[in-house]
Amino acid sequence: MNILLTGGAGYIGSHTAVVLAQAGHHVVLLDNLCNSQASVVTRIGRITGQAHPLEVCDVRETARVQHILRQYNIQAVVHFAGLKAVGESVQQPLAYFNANVSGAISLLEAMQAEGVRKLVFSSSATVYGQPQYLPLDEDHPTGAINPYGRTKLHIEEMLQDLAASDATWRIAILRYFNPVGAHESGLIGEDPSGTPNNLMPYIARVAAGKLPYLNVWGDDYATPDGTGVRDYIHVMDLAEGHRAALDYLNHSTLPCEVFNLGTGKGYSVLDMIQAFELATGKRIPFQVGPRRSGDVAACYADNQKAAMKLAWHAQHQLGQMCQSTWQFESGYL
Ligand code: NAD
Ligand code: UD1
Repeated sequence: MNILLTGGAGYIGSHTAVVLAQAGHHVVLLDNLCNSQASVVTRIGRITGQAHPLEVCDVRETARVQHILRQYNIQAVVHFAGLKAVGESVQQPLAYFNANVSGAISLLEAMQAEGVRKLVFSSSATVYGQPQYLPLDEDHPTGAINPYGRTKLHIEEMLQDLAASDATWRIAILRYFNPVGAHESGLIGEDPSGTPNNLMPYIARVAAGKLPYLNVWGDDYATPDGTGVRDYIHVMDLAEGHRAALDYLNHSTLPCEVFNLGTGKGYSVLDMIQAFELATGKRIPFQVGPRRSGDVAACYADNQKAAMKLAWHAQHQLGQMCQSTWQFESGYL
């Protein structure tokens, strides 16, 4: 298939581009480069041995997106493009609603106009809000607790309404748990600008000596060691999930479905420190600080639906997540 990846130069988009190209699809990347660099496309090409077009474009430029859909005879879209920093979304809610919600509307209008009806959308486990039970299945009530999460929920609702209005749509909403790790080549990975907010990139910067120690946000949660528990998933497994979802959309009879993409296993902050130290031989000094506002104690997926319907299973273990993170961070190829 000819597949357009909006936000394709970003962290998850670049890994998905590799997987889709290696599965024989033609990928076209669309990105405004607000959180990525054009050079990533060369790196993707070094891995796949192919050249992939990059259209530097904002998804909110509807007419241009429409033109790109036509120009490359696009048959399916994976929509990664958007803003994702929770703290920033609290400070700048309008920027988030504009980029994420208006961006999705613009893309969907362009797709509708060009008759492209297959879409995979990047959602997040954040839409479950405070877990009422664990593991989280797709029927767990939703309720986002910050503007970023609310943009994802709004888009999910919009997609459900769109699918209800026109049953020819084939939409997969993927709720990612905590993506970490990097491609085994070390050529692409997660490279947040400034001080990272998320745990794994922060640990990697401590290991590299760029930050002095890790702050562990709270050790008094109702979890086995008191620190927060999450479902960390290797970004290459996540990328495979997109390939599986696109395959599924080709024979699915339902216009819109939601899938969790997680491993189903929860690891604490202290587990992650230990796993990283074991996998890399690096010491990660840490200090326990107060809880981070908005954090939940534990969050991990029930991934049975993706296993059953998409025939998708996460393959990578925690050690590989840590090793590949370190390989990318430390830059030895
Ligand atoms: P990322 O920032 O690395 O990638 C997003 C890409 O979209 C960037 O390259 C950015 O330049 C581009 N972009 C942003 N706004 C755009 C616009 N208006 N037009 C065109 N391009 C635009 O983020 P990521 O981690 O790869 O996340 C991809 C998607 O997955 C996002 O929608 C994010 O909300 C979602 N998600 C990410 C995580 C995570 O932990 N990384 C978890 C759950 C969901
Ligand atoms: C964060 C986002 C969430 C997003 C998810 C995807 C917040 C509040 N939530 O969730 O919307 O969908 O990433 O990856 O940002 N931790 C530390 N020290 C640190 C950083 C994190 O102890 O320096 C702890 C946290 O308290 C948490 C765990 O590590 O228990 C994971 O944190 P993080 O990587 O930020 O992910 P989430 O909180 O799950």
